[in-house]
Amino acid sequence: MQSSLVIIKPDAVKRNLIGNILSIYEANGLRITKLKMLTPSLKQAEQHYGEHKGKSFYDKLISYITSGPIVLALVEGEDAVDSVRNLNGATNPADAQSETIRALYGIDKTQNSVHASDSFESVERETAIWFEE
Ligand code: CMP
Repeated sequence: MQSSLVIIKPDAVKRNLIGNILSIYEANGLRITKLKMLTPSLKQAEQHYGEHKGKSFYDKLISYITSGPIVLALVEGEDAVDSVRNLNGATNPADAQSETIRALYGIDKTQNSVHASDSFESVERETAIWFEE
């Protein structure tokens, strides 16, 4: 069985959307196997988003993700990486298919409510950042 790592981002936590978002994964056959809430340190944020360093939106992304509590969830199920990405929808909420999490709750490209690993390798890398002590 495959797993994916989900982050419920500060904009969604602030608006009391944790339960709504987790219930969408559960209602679609995925199981939450680990759950954690924290405010990211600068180091964790830079490790997580390292591949975007140097891009125009990087500084804004780092200051946003460290701005308040996030929820980290390990989500398990068949084709979990693709399933979660499909449920999340396109990065820009304005482009996201209706009924996806970003279409329902996302505000803009930065405050887009959720993150999910984009490959099996990303799941391993991101799990090590957020779940290994
Ligand atoms: P996420 O899935 O967390 O992974 C990288 C994040 O960078 C992405 O979601 C967006 O929130 C953000 N991002 C990507 N492209 C842009 C952009 N053009 N402008 C602002 N933020 C972006």
